[in-house]
Amino acid sequence: MKNLHKSVMINEIISFLPLTKSINIIDATFGGGGYSKTILEKFNVKHLLAIDRDPTSKIFAKKIESKFSNFTLINDKFSKIEEIVNNTEFKDKKFDIILFDIGTSSNQIDNAQRGFSFNKSGPLDMQMGGSDKNAYDIINKYEEKNLADIIYQYGEERYSRVIAKEIVKNRGVKFINNTIELSNIIKKCLPKKNKLKNKIHPATKTFQAIRIYVNDELNELKTSLEKTLKILNKDGLILVVSFQSLEDRIVKDFFNHNSGKRWRSSRHYPELPDKLATQLKIITKKPILPSASEIFENPRSRSAKLRVAQKI
Ligand SMILES: C[S@@+](CC[C@H](N)C(=O)[O-])C[C@H]1O[C@@H](n2cnc3c(N)ncnc32)[C@H](O)[C@@H]1O
Repeated sequence: MKNLHKSVMINEIISFLPLTKSINIIDATFGGGGYSKTILEKFNVKHLLAIDRDPTSKIFAKKIESKFSNFTLINDKFSKIEEIVNNTEFKDKKFDIILFDIGTSSNQIDNAQRGFSFNKSGPLDMQMGGSDKNAYDIINKYEEKNLADIIYQYGEERYSRVIAKEIVKNRGVKFINNTIELSNIIKKCLPKKNKLKNKIHPATKTFQAIRIYVNDELNELKTSLEKTLKILNKDGLILVVSFQSLEDRIVKDFFNHNSGKRWRSSRHYPELPDKLATQLKIITKKPILPSASEIFENPRSRSAKLRVAQKI
């Protein structure tokens, strides 16, 4: 299987890594292995623990495993990051660098059979791995209100109610089996002026919403970020590349709340007290964005944002 994924902002990522110090690293989103491979080749790595929930990541890990004995891939969800560390040879180890490059890889999006793409005909699946839900059940079985809420909450789609209504109308005639069928239903729901004004495909937000819900992506991220605090070394860095505003807000809130900033109400962390103990120092006051040349070479990088914080 060929790795189709082009790593995003790899130069910016490695610019934060110490050049000579011997380091323990977690690559929490191994994907096609682009980050892991570059780091193993260029830096003084004691151990690199890679994690990915997608079973296909094991295929991309084979070459790296054969070349580097200090590399281990665990096929699991990163929300279990602390348990993974404690249940493996890494027990009681602390890490100097923890990397997240969240979202989907091109290996997932470009494989029509996975059902992530509104441009490629495939089954309504959208599972990244280790999920107990799938897109088919959500689209064909969920109540209209529930469906509209998911599309609104996780896609920030203002036409969520119209789209949910149209989905329910269509599935009353025949079950919706296929990504293109779903995409065509959504297309009909958006007003013409909106389609012309907006450069993104009309199904983008709805597909994002269903994918996030199927894979419980926001909870995965929140849970995992909290756990990193327990396994980072003093001065260790956490680096997160995110691709949409809901994820970026979670990262920003997490960094702010753990760096002594006063609590500002947020729907993502409603249960926290006013101010938390200071455990992090924010390194990137504003997120770092990909360069114009990277966006030109790899348009999928255009919405990426990198944030970095340091354990103190
Ligand atoms: C954008 S890709 C990472 C690409 C990688 N940095 C590279 O250079 O090849 C994101 C990867 O994270 C994985 N992923 C997403 N959410 C995850 C989670 N909750 N737990 C573990 N892996 C996850 C996906 O399966 C996907 O392979």
